[in-house]
Amino acid sequence: MSMELEGRVAIVTGAAGGIGRELVQGLLGAGAKVAALDIDETGLAALAARLEEEAGAGRLFTRRTDIGSYGECEAAVGEAREKLGGLHLLVNNGAVGMGVIRMDHMTDLVEIHEIAPDAWDRFVAVNLSGAWYMTRAAIEGLLGQGWGRIVNVTTSFFTMLRGRFHPYGPPKAGLEAMSAGHAKEFEGRGVTVNVVVPGGPADTPMVPAESGIDRASMVPPSAMAPPVLWLCSEAGGAWTGHRYVAGRWDASLVPAAAAEGCRAPIGWPDLARNPVWPGGKPPE
Ligand SMILES: NC(=O)c1ccc[n+]([C@@H]2O[C@H](COP(=O)([O-])OP(=O)(O)OC[C@H]3O[C@@H](n4cnc5c(N)ncnc54)[C@H](O)[C@@H]3O)[C@@H](O)[C@H]2O)c1
Repeated sequence: MSMELEGRVAIVTGAAGGIGRELVQGLLGAGAKVAALDIDETGLAALAARLEEEAGAGRLFTRRTDIGSYGECEAAVGEAREKLGGLHLLVNNGAVGMGVIRMDHMTDLVEIHEIAPDAWDRFVAVNLSGAWYMTRAAIEGLLGQGWGRIVNVTTSFFTMLRGRFHPYGPPKAGLEAMSAGHAKEFEGRGVTVNVVVPGGPADTPMVPAESGIDRASMVPPSAMAPPVLWLCSEAGGAWTGHRYVAGRWDASLVPAAAAEGCRAPIGWPDLARNPVWPGGKPPE
C-alpha cells in the first residue's frame, strides 16, 4: 500500500457517515493522521472501535463537533493541530440530508410550506457555512506553511437545481461557488481547493430506504476515496479549482489518467463569459 500521505494531518467532517468513514479509512491507509469530526458521537465511537487498532497509536482523533457553529469549528481545528501535530488536509464532507425534512422526500418531493424557517437556516449553517467555518479556522495555518489541500464535497448540478429538493440543493450550489472563489483566492500560495462529488445517489444513510432506489445501482461510498486521496497527494497538488466525479474514476488507469477522466472546472464558468462590465471583462 502507498504511504504517500505519511507525515500529513487531515481533518474530515461528517466522518461517521457513509462517505466520511471511507475517507477516514483511506487517509489512514495512506499514512496520514486523521481528525475525524462529526456531530454523531455514537457513530464516531463506532468508527474509532473499527479503525483505531488498524491506525495504530495516536493516528486517529475523534471529536464531536457541530460544524454549524464557528466556535466549535475553531476549537476542533485547534485540538486537531495540538493532538496530531499540524494540519495539511481539510475535507469538508459533513452535511445534513433531506431525510431531516421527510424520509420519503424522493418519491414525494418536498414543498416550500413543509420547510420550517429554522430547518432552512440549519441546512445553510451546516451544508454551506460549515465548510466556510472550517476553512476560515484552518486557512491561516495552511497559507502560513505554504502547503494545504481543501476538498469540498458538493453534489450533482441536477440536485442543486432540482425543484422541490430544498433546502438541500441551494446551499450545495453556494458551496460550489465558494470553492471556486477560494481556489482563486489561495492560488499560487500552496493551497489547492477542489470539489469531489459521487456523481449520483451514493449508497449511504443520506439516501433512505424510502427513496425506492435500487441500492446496488448507487455509487458506492468507497468510490470517493481515490480522487480525494489523489488530490491530497503531491501529484494532485498541481490542480486547483476543479471538480471530480468520483463515480467516473476509472481505477484501471494510473491515478493521473483516472483524474483526467473525471475532471471538469468547478461551478459554472461558461455563465461568467458574457457579463456587462465596464471595459468588457471583470478582473479575475
Ligand atoms: N449520499 C449521496 O447520495 C450523496 C450525493 C452527493 C453528495 N453527497 C454528499 O456527500 C457528503 C457525505 O454524505 P453521506 O452520503 O456520507 O451522508 P451521511 O448522512 O451518511 O453522512 C453525513 C455525515 O455528516 C454528519 N453531520 C450532519 N450534520 C453535522 C454537523 N452539524 N456537524 C458535523 N457533522 C454533521 C452526519 O452525522 C453524518 O455522519 C455530504 O456532503 C453529502 O451532501 C452525498
